[in-house]
Amino acid sequence: MDNKATIWAIVPAAGIGTRMQADKPKQYLALGSGTVLSHSLQRLASHPAISGIIVALAEHDPWWPTIEQNYPCPIITTIGGSTRADSVLYGLQTLATQTEDAWALVHDAARPCLRHSDIDKMLSILLPHPVGGILGMPVSDTMKRVNVDGTIINTVSRDGLWRAATPQLFRATALQQALISAKEKGQQVTDEASAMELSGHQPLMVAGHADNIKITLPQDLALAEHYLQQQEKV
Ligand code: C5P
Repeated sequence: MDNKATIWAIVPAAGIGTRMQADKPKQYLALGSGTVLSHSLQRLASHPAISGIIVALAEHDPWWPTIEQNYPCPIITTIGGSTRADSVLYGLQTLATQTEDAWALVHDAARPCLRHSDIDKMLSILLPHPVGGILGMPVSDTMKRVNVDGTIINTVSRDGLWRAATPQLFRATALQQALISAKEKGQQVTDEASAMELSGHQPLMVAGHADNIKITLPQDLALAEHYLQQQEKV
């Protein structure tokens, strides 16, 4: 393992999260003793391998100053973009002003239940890997392709199908190049791995815990709170 690796987290937190139907973006909704975002940041900041965190925020974000600001590692904010990929790209550009040759651990602001053991597992598997990779879970449901009126077209084999989650861990410069290349070619990417794939790399999938949920719908908050309480008991 590359024991001397410098690892910074990049947290895209510039989204609006319209599916929550809330008066503020989902990362600022209350969760336990804090907010979704403060839990996500705390999980990253308290991991000993993480040197610092870059958080990409929406321009004129009025909520950021209202949440917890004390974390056990440096936190640097930057302005995000109109897509998640742009927010990550601007985060990487900010990271380049801080350190050279770092690994970027990109993690959604909306995934507050990330376990340290999953970060440990990623680091031990991916730091020796030539490309890097992502945390995910194998698909367990039967998968259907459905048309716009809800009619089932067919059943899709779930063999080899995984759900992509975050963190996603890549060398910062390679990821920055891949995101720039995708942007220049007009290719839409919804995660970092897809940008790397489009640049010809072959990232690795690492099996993570299913409780690393992304807050998307209102009912996800109660589930996240339950998972956080369960994790405290372990
Ligand atoms: O909307 P979705 O759940 O896919 O967003 C995933 C993450 O990307 C969230 O943490 C969100 O705040 C972030 N995001 C961003 N900039 C955007 C859109 C989403 O940082 N323009």
